[in-house]
Amino acid sequence: MAQDKRSILVTGGAGYIGSHAVLALKDAGYNPVVIDNLVTGFRWAVPDDVPFYEGNVVDGALIAQIVKHENIVAAMHFAGSVVVPESVENPLKYYQNNTANSREFIEHLIHNNVRHLIFSSTAATYGIPEQMPVAEDCPQIPINPYGMSKLMTEYMLRDISAAHDFNFCALRYFNVAGADPQGRSGQSTAGATHLIKVAVEAALGRRDSIGIFGTDFDTKDGSGVRDYIHVSDLAQAHLLALQALMNNPQNSYTLNCGYGHGFSVIEVLDAVDRVTNAKLNRVIQGRRAGDPDALVADNRAIMAQFNWTPQYNDLDIIVTHALQWERILSQKNMA
Ligand code: UFG
Repeated sequence: MAQDKRSILVTGGAGYIGSHAVLALKDAGYNPVVIDNLVTGFRWAVPDDVPFYEGNVVDGALIAQIVKHENIVAAMHFAGSVVVPESVENPLKYYQNNTANSREFIEHLIHNNVRHLIFSSTAATYGIPEQMPVAEDCPQIPINPYGMSKLMTEYMLRDISAAHDFNFCALRYFNVAGADPQGRSGQSTAGATHLIKVAVEAALGRRDSIGIFGTDFDTKDGSGVRDYIHVSDLAQAHLLALQALMNNPQNSYTLNCGYGHGFSVIEVLDAVDRVTNAKLNRVIQGRRAGDPDALVADNRAIMAQFNWTPQYNDLDIIVTHALQWERILSQKNMA
């Protein structure tokens, strides 16, 4: 069966963003194949009819076997570590999982003649940008090991693509939020710290309150401003990237993924109140270390190059889907 379909290897396909990419690939008629070590991912997040390999991306024998057996033509590399404060405490883990393991994985792809890779990069590679919205050519000066570990992989990809018959697309994600509109996946990690996830947990009574980390930023209402992008629109960007890489094997791309406008923490909490028709218990707290005032994408490049047309560019829709998933998740956890 795999022979007559275009099979795409998805590392970290049991995780939050990876599982949405798997759904998007399936919906578009591709044949996704998942490798995930299930350290932070969930087996149930991968549909039953998607081939699943439990393992690590550095396992060369396993990658060779998957590529051959499943007829892999391209890869999406989501596997990695994503918690910024943890990266400050344990930089070795981040340089291992996000940098060293990516190098090995790319080497396995090259050896097995897989010629296209989409890489999960991050707005954290910019650090505290000098201009807003931030464009792809802004200086990249990460302020934490997480951002640096991803930036180093961007550098490797640039050099590797110049030397080999291989092209890549590095997508720099801004603040990913929401969940599959059909309720098939969502953010499931316990003890999450992301604003919209924490806010919907509080709205469902799973937390007593929600903290506002700082009200003295240089923003419209003093709280931090971010560019929240719906995870399904982000997954769609990966599909467009895949098509671009396969159609233009000489080209590589590095592109921001955001909507190009920001919402403050207070505006996000107002949206949660609107959607739930209730009032969150808000507690004003001090700033969190390393938080920039605002981080908003200049997204003109991805719009122009991929003709990316977001479907869910609406804060209330993002919150509605996050809330819907949170309800499904509590049923799963009770089952
Ligand atoms: N915030 C609160 N209260 C909370 C949680 C967050 O006020 O309980 C605030 C933060 O201070 C910040 C905003 O909400 O102003 C967003 O914070 P998140 O923790 O949701 O996200 P970050 O912007 O800190 O970081 C996210 C990802 C990173 C990624 C970065 C890139 O977690 O992995 O976006 O923009 F690198």
